[in-house]
Amino acid sequence: MELVDRVTVVTGGGSGIGRESAKAFAAEGARAVVVADLNEENAKRVASDIGPVARGVRLDVSDRDAVFALCRDVEDEHGPIDVFFSNAGYGQPGGLDLSAEDWQHMMDVHFTSHLYVAQALVPGMVARGEGYLFSTASAAGLLTQIDSGPYAVSKAAAVAFAEWLAINYGGDGVRVSVLCPQAVRTNIIGDDLTEWDRGNQASQDGVLLPEQVAQMVVETIREERFLLLPHEQVATYMKRKAEDPDRWIGGMQRLKKRLGG
Ligand SMILES: NC(=O)c1ccc[n+]([C@@H]2O[C@H](COP(=O)([O-])OP(=O)(O)OC[C@H]3O[C@@H](n4cnc5c(N)ncnc54)[C@H](O)[C@@H]3O)[C@@H](O)[C@H]2O)c1
Repeated sequence: MELVDRVTVVTGGGSGIGRESAKAFAAEGARAVVVADLNEENAKRVASDIGPVARGVRLDVSDRDAVFALCRDVEDEHGPIDVFFSNAGYGQPGGLDLSAEDWQHMMDVHFTSHLYVAQALVPGMVARGEGYLFSTASAAGLLTQIDSGPYAVSKAAAVAFAEWLAINYGGDGVRVSVLCPQAVRTNIIGDDLTEWDRGNQASQDGVLLPEQVAQMVVETIREERFLLLPHEQVATYMKRKAEDPDRWIGGMQRLKKRLGG
């Protein structure tokens, strides 16, 4: 799909990958770019930097009514949403020490939010025979995240949901893609990469800039490919995991030890 003249929404658009993707959508000629973020001030700042095609709004993606209301408002103003980029997310280290509520909140932001978007938009997309749902999961959703249980599990749910959507609605014209990066230099990993590195192996494969990832998002939309792996090594790791899961778990256990866990 080409982005020229398209109506687009980017969640988590106030920062990082979302901000750069919103800018890239506008540069590609989108007719409307709705920058939605929990942080309203950032959303509005990004929209005003982009110019008149963009509008910044506050949105908590884990709030079903708010997601439905945003979709309705955008469609009332601009017509059908062509591309919805469900990208909002956050990190939280920890595992069994975290409360069930902490785990649930990550599921709500990283998975259930994608369900709300699909419930709001897929019926219209199927009726038109066209539409694009793009979501940001993570390499953590394919290969786990040693230092964060809820992050790994909620991102795996995001990948599984994207697969399910693509299989069930791809034939009706709904395009689905899922972005699974390792490290990208954004607020989520912070400025202090040395500190972040202590609990993560991913930066060994290179830290990308959000602008680079945004360009890959645009290319993936153009080519309508399902899986976007900005770090190519992830495909090799997925292959090894599929070929010999026990060996892969053993390797990850050794990596955890090396990282001091
Ligand atoms: N940076 C990385 O290394 C990396 C790697 C893999 C995946 N990701 C994923 O990329 C996505 C974008 O993150 P980023 O790296 O650009 O980080 P970021 O912190 O720069 O941007 C994330 C944005 O999401 C917003 N957000 C958080 N919770 C929200 C909610 N409930 N509703 C609406 N907005 C909310 C934040 O306010 C923030 O502006 C996230 O889903 C993240 O998990 C990032």
